[in-house]
Amino acid sequence: MHDYQASEARYENMLYRKCGKSGLKLSAVGLGLWHGFGAEETHDDCFLRVAAAFDLGITHFDLADNYGPPPGAAETVFGTVLGREFKAHRDELVVATKAGHAMWPGPYGDWGSRKHLRAGLDQSLTRLRLDYVDIFYHHRPDPDTPLEETMCALADLVDQGKALYIGLSKYPAKLLRQAVALLAEMRVPCVVHQVRYNLLEHDEVEAEQIPAADGAGLGTVVFSPLAQGVLTNKYAEGVPEDSRAAKGSPFISRYLHDDAVTYARRLQVLAQARGQTPAQTALAWVLRDPRVTSAVIGASRPAQIRENVEALQNLAFDAAELTALG
Ligand SMILES: NC(=O)c1ccc[n+]([C@@H]2O[C@H](COP(=O)([O-])OP(=O)(O)OC[C@H]3O[C@@H](n4cnc5c(N)ncnc54)[C@H](OP(=O)(O)O)[C@@H]3O)[C@@H](O)[C@H]2O)c1
Repeated sequence: MHDYQASEARYENMLYRKCGKSGLKLSAVGLGLWHGFGAEETHDDCFLRVAAAFDLGITHFDLADNYGPPPGAAETVFGTVLGREFKAHRDELVVATKAGHAMWPGPYGDWGSRKHLRAGLDQSLTRLRLDYVDIFYHHRPDPDTPLEETMCALADLVDQGKALYIGLSKYPAKLLRQAVALLAEMRVPCVVHQVRYNLLEHDEVEAEQIPAADGAGLGTVVFSPLAQGVLTNKYAEGVPEDSRAAKGSPFISRYLHDDAVTYARRLQVLAQARGQTPAQTALAWVLRDPRVTSAVIGASRPAQIRENVEALQNLAFDAAELTALG
């Protein structure tokens, strides 16, 4: 346990943006716990990153029931940090979690049934040691459950006080509009849509999902803004020790290919001309759009969080820069 004193200057350099038309503001940079907060990490390592984030004004912490490994571990680790060092700061934090990816065996451990979502959130609250989360997301659409069932289950969880706001994740634009309309009928505060968005993958999100969320009064939270680290140009000379790829994550193969690594080399040059690192330019680029409420980064060490938050010093791009990055 650390004798933690939060920085008094923590709110000075962060930008806070509203989730669409709601009253909820999120830090423009959020910290995600998908990787690097598994059971094998020490409490110290996890605490130091959470504390570094909070001291920089990050109030938005993004989890899901299945983050680990093993699934559940990230919530347990974060719950320990909350319980030990952050008790005094609960009301300064937005804790988001999700259910809808495979979590336990059998027909109720996955997707979007009422049965799954209720048990999923209850389990998350136990691991997080919380009475409620600030945002509860349905993690992905379920093709086999009626949308009404999923939305009513989310509404009931808000009604029971277990979640303050609802979020949806990875919904196609049309389904997103239908889901938000159902929630609005029940007067449920659905405030954000979460999507993958970065310099390497943006066309569909820009054409469809960001406008759909905005049109429905929601903010957009983006994930993998650094393409899992590839946009930092750290893979230019191969796979560095201690990187996500070196640790054997199966997910990074999405970006660990020649085109992406070549793009990151070019990004390094363009970023340098802006006085930024490639990570900062990649992050600034997703946040240049005010409809993006928050970009959720991952971080394996505190220095990465400090570097990334500095991106907020320059979110403006001129036309020539946008063309060069496109
Ligand atoms: N809704 C969904 O389905 C969904 C899906 C995926 C993610 N998410 C959320 O989004 C969050 C972020 O996703 P992500 O981890 O893919 O984000 P990301 O920010 O694109 O990648 C993060 C990784 O890049 C590396 N990195 C970050 N800053 C760096 C810097 N300045 N210099 C060098 N390397 C740096 C670190 O990995 P190494 O140092 O280990 O290389 C870090 O873990 C997740 O934690 C999760 O909360 C949601």
